[in-house]
Amino acid sequence: MKKFTVALLYNLKQNAPHREGEPWDAWNELDSEKTAANIERALRAGGHEVIGMEGDVHLAQKLAHYKIDIAFNTCEGHFGLSREAQTPAILDALRIPYTGSGVMTLCVALDKPMAKRVMLQHNLPTPLFQTFVTGDERLNPKLKFPLFVKPSREGSGIGITAKSVCRNARELRAQVAWCIETYHQPALVEEYIEGREFTLGMLGNLPWMIQPRADGKPPEPIAALKNAKPKQIKTQTPETLRVFPPLEVDLSPCPPEQAGLYTSVIKGELYNVPNYPCPAPISKRLWAQMEKLAAGAFAALECTDFARVDFRLRQDTGAPTILEINPLAGLQEGISDIVMAGEADGISFAALINGILDAALQRYGMI
Ligand SMILES: Nc1ncnc2c1ncn2[C@@H]1O[C@H](COP(=O)(O)OP(=O)(O)O)[C@@H](O)[C@H]1O
Ligand SMILES: [Mg+2]
Repeated sequence: MKKFTVALLYNLKQNAPHREGEPWDAWNELDSEKTAANIERALRAGGHEVIGMEGDVHLAQKLAHYKIDIAFNTCEGHFGLSREAQTPAILDALRIPYTGSGVMTLCVALDKPMAKRVMLQHNLPTPLFQTFVTGDERLNPKLKFPLFVKPSREGSGIGITAKSVCRNARELRAQVAWCIETYHQPALVEEYIEGREFTLGMLGNLPWMIQPRADGKPPEPIAALKNAKPKQIKTQTPETLRVFPPLEVDLSPCPPEQAGLYTSVIKGELYNVPNYPCPAPISKRLWAQMEKLAAGAFAALECTDFARVDFRLRQDTGAPTILEINPLAGLQEGISDIVMAGEADGISFAALINGILDAALQRYGMI
């Protein structure tokens, strides 16, 4: 196995540019020192040399001091519509390969309404929605209460509380106004989906995203994919992309004030409270259906190396619907959904981290 010099790039919570009056959960997406240390340890266990640094506006100057083969990107950024794409854009300009999705995917996926438009174009089911920029827009009469309100461009449950579920026009107007004013971005209003919640993690790439081999042979599955448990369902997902078994987010043990939602309070503080059965206790048919949709969303958004897709089931039809796609899914050891799902599929945290690196190395034709 070849050894590489890897720049581990992160935006740590402790370096967040705090502003007066910011909401309490403003920086919940950023990583702890512990997460960075765990990823670094995993990469070293893979035999690589690791140089960690904050992915800030000085990144280009800092990287110039080293001979980097590839970057392991976990940067969420701080400001602007491009925040998750800023570090990848710098790396593109410096011609440094990096793990995970590229600039376009990260920009589109950060903006939930835009990602939903792309998914709808690919016939992927996602709740009917409307974007509110000023808050005074006329509600699309096709949207029936109860409706759900969330910030357009956040993650980690930021801006999601019991009040996100609105049962009438008065509640909706108040929540939309709060969302726009507090998070300084448009509010996404969509159908409230009351049913069970699942998330599917993915590792690898679709074959056409991988540089063709010099010998013309199809790409070999990377080590982490060879070690995965045999599939329990029949699917058409290519060998080069592993879709982990569905992980259910069973929120029933959570305090009632969290209203059965995967809020920032649960994701940040009460993450031990929900049950996360994986593989979820569901039919093989539903499993196969969600796997197909998850891989479809991965392809539609042109994700690379890893991603996670969140689902809820419609209570009336039982049909899965996609809430969102996360190309920059959290990687907290033992805690993040994709990490738990990987473990359930026989892929340890270290194997997942090195699998993401290998997927990128293979995609760039470096292994
Ligand atoms: N349309 C919806 N109907 C019901 N619950 C929703 C809806 N959208 C989001 N949620 C709840 O809010 C949580 C976070 O929403 P999500 O869109 O996944 O954003 P985040 O990027 O913060 O994870 C979901 O996991 C789910 O519990
Ligand atoms: Mg989510």
